[in-house]
Amino acid sequence: MSHSDFDATADEFDRFRAFPAEVSTAIRNALRAAVGDSPGALFLDLGAGTGRIGEAFVAAGDAYIAIDPSAAMLARFAAKSRRRAGLGPLLVQADGQSLPFLAGTFDAVLIAHVLGGARAWQKLLCEARRVLRPGGRLAVGQRIGPQDGVDAQMRQQLSMILTDLGVDATRPGARRDDVRGWMQSNGGRIEEIVAARWAAMPSPRAFLARHATGARFAALMRSTREEALRRLEEWALTAFGSLNTPRVEPHAFVLDIGLW
Ligand SMILES: C[S@@+](CC[C@H](N)C(=O)[O-])C[C@H]1O[C@@H](n2cnc3c(N)ncnc32)[C@H](O)[C@@H]1O
Repeated sequence: MSHSDFDATADEFDRFRAFPAEVSTAIRNALRAAVGDSPGALFLDLGAGTGRIGEAFVAAGDAYIAIDPSAAMLARFAAKSRRRAGLGPLLVQADGQSLPFLAGTFDAVLIAHVLGGARAWQKLLCEARRVLRPGGRLAVGQRIGPQDGVDAQMRQQLSMILTDLGVDATRPGARRDDVRGWMQSNGGRIEEIVAARWAAMPSPRAFLARHATGARFAALMRSTREEALRRLEEWALTAFGSLNTPRVEPHAFVLDIGLW
């Protein structure tokens, strides 16, 4: 069984990171529409995690396969699926760098919130492309909030604090522009789809609680984590006046769809 950083934080993932139910459905509907009418279209969710998005495919009865190296994340997905009648989704514990599928198998591959934390992001994209049928859709998705929003400011400040504490705070994986650049330099055409927009209510306190359970952050030494969160809380109190007051901010889920 392979180990994943996400094993340790799987139980907390949905508590702090769930999307409004209609957002997951909207993402599924947007990808469904992107593959056209084909009723038997086969979807792969690469790095599906707890099924935060995948659940909508399961609920709609799609031909859907989830892969993830984290047994704990998939166990959460399985537990949610057991509440439904029928066989449930096919959940495969595997590394996206070496997918256990033949070339040309899928009509669409979804990769959501995986590449930013993945050093081997190019390998993941190559594998995703390999298992797509000719004309299939490679959909890389992420939630996007305002650049000066609460979460963005908290992230930036935390990054400075961690650097000050001697931790390399750079994200190991790809930014959105890196992925779009990869698609284009590999001969792909990109279609951008805003799958969902909603009013989010982030607060500094919610960020602090959520970040404490983040996979990469949780892997740091306990003393470093505690000191970083203490300094961030102190900064947030001054910057925002309160840790609790949520701001209403426009958030969106955007799919960059690569077409070949
Ligand atoms: C932040 S979660 C996102 C889960 C899901 N896509 C979502 O948006 O709710 C990232 C997931 O990527 C998975 N992951 C990390 N490295 C991976 C790899 N090499 N291949 C496949 N999945 C990977 C993690 O185990 C984790 O479940």
